Amino acid sequence: MNQRTLGTTGLPTSALGFGCMRLPVLDGAVDEPSAIAMLRWAFDHGVDYADSAYGYHDGHSERVLGLALRDGYRERVTVATKMPVWLAKEPADFDRLFAEQCARLGTERIDCYLLHNLQSARWDQVRDLGVTDWLERRRAAGDIGAFGFSFHDSYATFERILDEYAGWQFCQLQYNYVCEQVQAGTRGLELAAARGLGVVVMEPLFGGTLATPPAPMQAVFDAAGADPTDLALRWLWAKPEVSLVLSGMSAQAQAEHNVALAARPGYDQLTAAESAVLQAARTAFEGLYALACTNCGYCLPCPQGLDIPSLFALFNSAGALGGGPRQLARALYGQKAEGERASACAACGECESKCPQHLPISEWMPKVQELLG
Ligand SMILES: NC(=O)c1ccc[n+]([C@@H]2O[C@H](COP(=O)([O-])OP(=O)(O)OC[C@H]3O[C@@H](n4cnc5c(N)ncnc54)[C@H](OP(=O)(O)O)[C@@H]3O)[C@@H](O)[C@H]2O)c1
Repeated sequence: MNQRTLGTTGLPTSALGFGCMRLPVLDGAVDEPSAIAMLRWAFDHGVDYADSAYGYHDGHSERVLGLALRDGYRERVTVATKMPVWLAKEPADFDRLFAEQCARLGTERIDCYLLHNLQSARWDQVRDLGVTDWLERRRAAGDIGAFGFSFHDSYATFERILDEYAGWQFCQLQYNYVCEQVQAGTRGLELAAARGLGVVVMEPLFGGTLATPPAPMQAVFDAAGADPTDLALRWLWAKPEVSLVLSGMSAQAQAEHNVALAARPGYDQLTAAESAVLQAARTAFEGLYALACTNCGYCLPCPQGLDIPSLFALFNSAGALGGGPRQLARALYGQKAEGERASACAACGECESKCPQHLPISEWMPKVQELLG
């Protein structure tokens, strides 16, 4: 496994980290034996960084990662997890949430601790509650190795958060070859690196879309004899500002593929011809996707009980692909009960304040109904 460094923390990390937001699922719950086996397989093959959060898999991501870290794995792995800042209403909540997370993970120390999904108002709130003093105290006590934040808001907010506190050690950004202008984007990546922050990349495959792209994008890769996952990940590793790349891997074959790639010599090189292939794929992507939903599930639960990501996935496949896939999407939509369809959206907007992509979800729901209904 190739190694990189987490910014000026100097912490060595594997080029590939394990994102624990998309662990294998069986009957709606984490498939624990498969998840633990996959995580340990990855740790045995050089992955030494695992990223979780309080809320992933309804709290079971941290617990299952904790199980995987037993039997001697804990000492070999950098454990990263995130404070759900929206649950911190008073300073005492920082200690309470941290203790709960340590208990779930079966550890007394979190190596890399992040404030989760910091947005403008959330930052103001926890800053005013004294979160940075708390982080520094817990780091001085040895309970936290390094601290940072994960981010999906605008570049302007990103810059403000960096300007208002000089002690950040790393950040976690959504970044991939179709998201250069999205959220913090390339400007944010470069700003963070220039200030010495480690940059952990999340959603490198845009939640899987760049690994198994729709036909017009896949055609670009086929014509070039290139693998879409390989080029998407190598595009990231070729950037010196990127410290490490997290992928959420939901199947053993994905872990094997991505680990092999991260272990290859030249994993961080991209030829001019490969860059041109990605440019063509980017152009194809921009013509396809009406709705840049990454299926992260942050919008859930919907007060009406709607499965918003699955509605948008159906919409995208129907809208982008036409033909047979559109018929299939309509058939699947038709199988949903009335209360599960986009028409049941009450436009309350609760989901929109939580969507990392800032999608105007309630505006899209009538369009979903129109195309699929
Ligand atoms: N802090 C935040 O706000 C935040 C937000 C998002 C993510 N994250 C973290 O960042 C991590 C990485 O983001 P992500 O999970 O979105 O990563 P990603 O790599 O963009 O997407 C993961 C998905 O890509 C597909 N995939 C991965 N490797 C593949 C391969 N070799 N071949 C085919 N498909 C492949 C799988 O999709 P299928 O499951 O559909 O097969 C997998 O679930 C997360 O797991 C989480 O730890 C944090």
